[in-house]
Amino acid sequence: MNQFYNRHFLKLSNFSKKDIYELLNISLKIKDDKNKNKEIKKLYNKNIVLIFEKESTRTRCSFEIACYEQEAKITYLSKYNSHIGYKESIKDTARILGQIYDGILFRGKHQKDIEILAQYAGIPVWNGLTNEFHPIQILSDLLTIKENLINKSLDEIILSYIGDINNNIANTFLEAALIIGFNLNLISPKKLWPNNKLFNNLLLNNNKIILTDNIDDGVNGADFIYTDIWLSMGESSKLWESRINDLHNYQVNKELILKTKNKNIKIMHCLPSLHLYYHYKKLFNQTIISKYNLFNGLEITDEIFESENSIIFQQSENKLHIIKAIILSTLLKNKY
Ligand code: CP
Ligand code: NVA
Repeated sequence: MNQFYNRHFLKLSNFSKKDIYELLNISLKIKDDKNKNKEIKKLYNKNIVLIFEKESTRTRCSFEIACYEQEAKITYLSKYNSHIGYKESIKDTARILGQIYDGILFRGKHQKDIEILAQYAGIPVWNGLTNEFHPIQILSDLLTIKENLINKSLDEIILSYIGDINNNIANTFLEAALIIGFNLNLISPKKLWPNNKLFNNLLLNNNKIILTDNIDDGVNGADFIYTDIWLSMGESSKLWESRINDLHNYQVNKELILKTKNKNIKIMHCLPSLHLYYHYKKLFNQTIISKYNLFNGLEITDEIFESENSIIFQQSENKLHIIKAIILSTLLKNKY
């Protein structure tokens, strides 16, 4: 029996380094099989439900296509076309869906909701993003990193994550770095540093995870630069101005890339990204854009987003292969 059979996929810290390496290898095999037109379709007798409390392009589409390509049948539920969350509790929803389906994908606000789903559904539950974690994304990123390694192994890289370090992407990278043992530099102004005991203890006890407000220190020698949108889904749009005030110096731009002193530096972003002015000019007051001259992108400039060092769309593609590895491994006894 494969080691993932019947398990949930809620957060990376539920898995070992060996587990994560195994999932990456399964994804690589599935990707290779698909590219050679020899993917084995194994989920023809499985029914899967996708619950989206928050919006999505990549995760939803990759999940649906992963299911179609594996011949599983799917139902899509959102907060607009179901009773979940207001007329019906998560616990009841879990028990109902658990009788009808073989697996549940959940994207929502609270990690505790997905924990309840997992507790009562009796079938595998997969996390498609919560406020706290985004494990499918970070596995896709690790796969992308693995494909781009030059003379280094995954546990030797330096990944510099810059910007909003209080979100699901940063939290999940923290988990990944702890499990795998790569160097993670978290870069943001002191004002935005998490101030909790757990985080502070973690930094004290791990010399491969660095928290700094100094961009030169944070990106020096980096192999990968990663950023995410400065305001995550579900956060009040009223926060845009203060976030820009805090983070405008922490943009991924040409100057920052030069500071890495690495001509092979790879640029990463989970997407969606506000790198084009016309996408964010209506989101907040124009004066702040002029004040900081942010006409060429917010968290990343369009120039760097589109540069040849960017592996952003490879990250996005890899989501499909990672999702297949997760659903096949948790739904079927035998290894893919
Ligand atoms: N990166 C990511 O999860 O994208 P979506 O919000 O489009 O799913
Ligand atoms: N931190 C972002 C990630 C989007 C994939 C958000 O939660 O909106």
